[in-house]
Amino acid sequence: MESNMAIKISNLSKSFADTLIINDCNMNVPHGSIYGFLGANGSGKTTIFKIIIGLLSPTNGTVKIMDMDVKKERKKILKEIGSLIEAPTFYEHLSAIDNLKIHLAYMNTKGFGVFEALDMVGLDGTDKKPVGKFSLGMRQRLGIARAFIHKPQILILDEPINGLDPMGIRDMRNLFIELTRNNGMTILLSSHILSEIEHLADMIGVLVNGTVLLEVSLPKIKKQYDVRLEDYFFHVMSGGNKYAETY
Ligand SMILES: Nc1ncnc2c1ncn2[C@@H]1O[C@H](COP(=O)(O)OP(=O)(O)OP(=O)(O)O)[C@@H](O)[C@H]1O
Ligand SMILES: [Mg+2]
Repeated sequence: MESNMAIKISNLSKSFADTLIINDCNMNVPHGSIYGFLGANGSGKTTIFKIIIGLLSPTNGTVKIMDMDVKKERKKILKEIGSLIEAPTFYEHLSAIDNLKIHLAYMNTKGFGVFEALDMVGLDGTDKKPVGKFSLGMRQRLGIARAFIHKPQILILDEPINGLDPMGIRDMRNLFIELTRNNGMTILLSSHILSEIEHLADMIGVLVNGTVLLEVSLPKIKKQYDVRLEDYFFHVMSGGNKYAETY
């Protein structure tokens, strides 16, 4: 049966050696949404993202991307995903232009085109400057450009706001909204800070003790908790369920 989920994670567990990091986790990312994945440092956000893109294999459970099983159809799925996970690596001696050209050639598509993508992330004019000489924020912008340039259906962005200045944060926020509205992308992005995603996400999933304890529609919860929104999420992130029962 077709589901309306871009990403569906069911009963996922992951252990490293004998340590259980992800524990019977379920997660549902609707098509066309911006899903904010909230969790404390070390809670397992990056681990789940790596499992989604097939960099790590799960100990148990399934991950489906547009109804395709990540384990069985990895090649097909990779074309539909763009990702930025942890600090992005590049060909350091090459320019942003050449790095993106190589990526597009590898993905075998024209996508947005190199110059349009650089413009979209505010990196136009970097010309021949090697990426090795980029600032942290510039690297982050280039990592974002590389994630979406091939026009994937799903964008997986691990802490995409890292290293960006306030204007960069605002620009990227607008860009992400544009990519969902104009290009129909689904965006899953992680953060450990609510304020980074509360103006952006339609849905929020909260990862606590290795499992998504709560999945809520942000506009709905904003209406109910309004100025106490931060308190609400702090409470859920510390493992409390006083409020969570409501949803
Ligand atoms: N390859 C690995 N081997 C052993 N333990 C690992 C490995 N990768 C991650 N872990 C452990 O899994 C837990 C979750 O790490 P993860 O990087 O997924 O957290 P995170 O939510 O992304 O944290 P942060 O907000 O700091 O980025 C941590 O305790 C980490 O030490
Ligand atoms: Mg992480």
